[in-house]
Amino acid sequence: MTPPSILDQLDVTDIDFAFQDTPDLHHMLADLRERKPYAVVPFAGVRAVLLLTHDLVSAAFKDEQTFPAPAVYSLTTEPVLGRTLQCMTGDEHRVNRAIVSPPFRRSLVTGWIEPLLEPIAHELIDRFVRAGNTDLVAEFTTRYPALVISRLLGLPVWDEATVLRWAHDLFYFPLDPPAAQRASREFAEYVAPIIAARRSEPGDDLLSKLVTESVDGTTLSDDQVLAFLRLLFPAGADTTMLALGNTVSALLTHPDQLAAVAADPQEQAQWAIWEGLRWEPPVGLLPRACPIATHWQGLDIPAMTPVIFAINAAHRDPAKYPAPHRFDITRHVTTMLSFGQGPHSCLGSWLALAELRTGLTALIQRLPGLRLADDALDDAAITSQVGTALRGPNALRVRWNHT
Ligand code: HEM
Repeated sequence: MTPPSILDQLDVTDIDFAFQDTPDLHHMLADLRERKPYAVVPFAGVRAVLLLTHDLVSAAFKDEQTFPAPAVYSLTTEPVLGRTLQCMTGDEHRVNRAIVSPPFRRSLVTGWIEPLLEPIAHELIDRFVRAGNTDLVAEFTTRYPALVISRLLGLPVWDEATVLRWAHDLFYFPLDPPAAQRASREFAEYVAPIIAARRSEPGDDLLSKLVTESVDGTTLSDDQVLAFLRLLFPAGADTTMLALGNTVSALLTHPDQLAAVAADPQEQAQWAIWEGLRWEPPVGLLPRACPIATHWQGLDIPAMTPVIFAINAAHRDPAKYPAPHRFDITRHVTTMLSFGQGPHSCLGSWLALAELRTGLTALIQRLPGLRLADDALDDAAITSQVGTALRGPNALRVRWNHT
């Protein structure tokens, strides 16, 4: 007889957490957490352990031995993106991460990158400001982070539409693998000569920094540079797009708080961004796996069990945040799990924060009286994107006062 297992009893039966959205995800997660700190849920046709409390999710992020990132990423992303940092562990990860880290440090982001952000935000707003209405997802939140990455890399400006298509196709690789493979190949063909040019004549752009940096005598090969650049689209552009969409959606549906940000954007935009990242983190349900059977935090988890780090449940854990469902920019909470924790925590968090703050400030300053268009409320609701892992609004149809 097989011994009883944590996976025997499903806590949810009607949705598959890999693919299906549920309209009231936050309340479902809160109900599950009231019963116990984890739940067993359907996930891609098998059963997964969903971690629901702040303590468990934080401990899991820091425990690379039990939940090594490559156990998932080498299956899900390596075939399309190549061998990225997320597919590495131990020394290989340490050296590779150290090589690509310098341009993303806080001091460099402040000194070198921040001045580039504001003109990009204003350039995009210039395109629609006279119309008095737009869909901010289509015209701003999708375009801005992809444009920031291509400008930082020093890619030619005239290729914006192509870069957006690659970002889209790489993002949707779980749903359309052939399109993602094509984008991956086209991107490699496009960037290879630019990498060669930067190797022989480095400039002041991110790509030049990536090809010249060395750690312990190691520099990145062309394949490693390519894998890192491809990763920047799903990891860097799409997450930031969703994060900005989530905060703007929250503000549009909480007009008193939007008014508070509009009254003092230089001070309040940063707090709106932090609260948006807590209230609706773009990476909401992060799938990992436990390759070896383990006894962890009182749970006996069988080998090869998918384990989902529910960042969005952890961020609404009442043991950590009072009145957790309330969007409240006066919380001023900055330590949170949106960017992960431990060895694989987000490399681009300072860049993301600077981009989000600059983007939101520019929107609020240039679009006075910003509000949702009539009948735009449903589209602005935050929903699952590409399976349930990522969350954002489908559209933000807005109006503003213009002369
Ligand atoms: C609001 C925006 C962003 C969010 C919410 C976010 C979130 C995350 C999270 C949760 C992880 C950890 C994944 C895991 O443990 O499996 C991560 C890793 C990563 N992020 Fe971000 N990210 C954002 C923006 C960026 C940007 C702008 C960049 C650009 C450089 C970036 C680059 C990376 C990289 C390279 C990793 C992998 C690090 C490693 O494995 O060592 N991210 N991010």
